[in-house]
Amino acid sequence: MQQGKFVTFEGVDGTGKTTQSQLLGRSLESEGLDVLLLREPGGTVISEKIRDILLDASQSHMTAETEVLLFEAARAQIVREVIKPALERGTWVICDRFMDSTVAYQGYGRGLDLEVIDKLNAFAVGETKPDLTILLQLPPQGLAERLEKRHELEAADRIDGESESFRAEVDRGFRALAAREPERFRCIETQGTKEETAGLVLELVRRVLS
Ligand code: TYD
Repeated sequence: MQQGKFVTFEGVDGTGKTTQSQLLGRSLESEGLDVLLLREPGGTVISEKIRDILLDASQSHMTAETEVLLFEAARAQIVREVIKPALERGTWVICDRFMDSTVAYQGYGRGLDLEVIDKLNAFAVGETKPDLTILLQLPPQGLAERLEKRHELEAADRIDGESESFRAEVDRGFRALAAREPERFRCIETQGTKEETAGLVLELVRRVLS
């Protein structure tokens, strides 16, 4: 049996990762592939409980060290309980955020030691690294507008309620990651409609993974 492929979406809050994960999942399914859509943190009972703790806006005193360990704990669980077995039975796994978010948010955003984060990520995921990571990027003005619209509709969680400078650091982190691993990371500008972006994503996935 052929291994499934592992595709992750990354980017700062408000770049449309969730929509694009879903649209890619639908396209691949219509081609007859078995697809599993996931998001991080979450995806198992244990990881969802950890997610609730992580995103609880009332817990503003959580330390950055606690935060990173909780993200990695949630990840260690979903990798072994869900992602690895799915890939082994030939399912394609699409995950809305994964290990790179920890480098960008807890490393660049919170300022934790990047080498420590690389080690924690390696411990949490083992051999289960993404085959392809799609970094969705918006021009700065577009991003501010999208986030504003989103925050009018829903309350910010503990992490996406952070400041503009935090968000700029996270963005810098993603760009640094993309430069560090250009084979795995591919960037897509999300300036067009969501259908246009979905077309670019599908074309990229076909080109890189088939
Ligand atoms: P979520 O509501 O899923 O946000 P989004 O739709 O933007 O993905 O919340 C996840 C939040 O957790 C998001 O603000 C990014 C943050 N995060 C980290 O800080 N580190 C991580 O390792 C991961 C996976 C997410």
